[in-house]
Amino acid sequence: MAISTRISQALHALPKTELHLHIEGTLEPELALRLADRNGVTLPFDGIDDLRSHYRFDNLQSFLDLYYQLMSVLCTREDFSDLMFDYLAHAHADGVHRAEIFFDPQVHMNNGLDYDLVLDGLLDGIARGRAAYGIDAALILSVVRDLPVESAQTLLDAAAPRADELLAIGLDSTEVGYPPELFERIYARAAGMGLHLVAHAGEEGTAEYIRQTLDVLHVERIDHGVRIIEDPTLVRRVAAEGIGLTVCPLSNLRLQVVDDVAKVPIRQLLDSGVCVTVNSDDPAYFGGYIADNYAALAETGLSIAALADIAGNSIEACFAPEADKAAMRTELDQWKTEYSDLLG
Ligand code: ADE
Ligand code: ZN
Repeated sequence: MAISTRISQALHALPKTELHLHIEGTLEPELALRLADRNGVTLPFDGIDDLRSHYRFDNLQSFLDLYYQLMSVLCTREDFSDLMFDYLAHAHADGVHRAEIFFDPQVHMNNGLDYDLVLDGLLDGIARGRAAYGIDAALILSVVRDLPVESAQTLLDAAAPRADELLAIGLDSTEVGYPPELFERIYARAAGMGLHLVAHAGEEGTAEYIRQTLDVLHVERIDHGVRIIEDPTLVRRVAAEGIGLTVCPLSNLRLQVVDDVAKVPIRQLLDSGVCVTVNSDDPAYFGGYIADNYAALAETGLSIAALADIAGNSIEACFAPEADKAAMRTELDQWKTEYSDLLG
């Protein structure tokens, strides 16, 4: 069902955090072509219409193939800074107060870039976003799970001298065949560097992958995690332990994890007491930023009160200092007063 203009406004204004966003997944196709031109990178596409015709995905891997291919256009510190700043402008317009953002340095390093160039560019974009919009953001160093584990150790070698400029470690890319337990030593080392711990699991992989992220990697939050619904015992455990799930409905639809947004098990997870959040993953590829994901759920009939609870969960599940969380809770209470007519 279509939502009203007032509901759309309310969902944009709803104070929220974004906890599952790959900065490289915000590279819009037009920008990819512009940067390819500017940086002298040859792409095998004949203009924007041809490129756009490749945005139909059968599964996670078919998306990742295009995503990694287009990442080759990101070359300079300025490219990374602009990508970050443009995303933060969009996030601010979508009511995001804080974003905890993945980046995939191994891919950039394999493209010949220095880790520090990438980090400096992204941090520069975050500083510009904070100055322009007051938006808060921090970086999650994401390990590409289908590259050799030694490559993840090399990444941590590069990251270690500036670990205090990172928020967390994450694990992404091709899931099936690359179980979390492969990365036990990487996560132990990252924990020793003072990083928070999160990992993608249960997007295409089974609930067993989710269990490993808890028992072997000791994560504080699970990215996607929707297949947890197949294991009621694990659902109860995640609810009891207050582990956040960063669910991405439009991503699940476009990567054919579900054939209908209504089948993303948000309602069941909320009813089970799971700290479920809603996020955008790779918005340039999946047809929507975070407010679009909230709106897509409203269109399935999920109540505005439930969506406000999800925004509240996003505040609880983020790694911001307690004072910042308290300020966001106050903003959410003010929003509830302003939109009380929608809360039934
Ligand atoms: N990298 C970028 N988006 C991803 C996703 N949805 N799953 C796994 N790896 C990713
Ligand atoms: Zn993701």
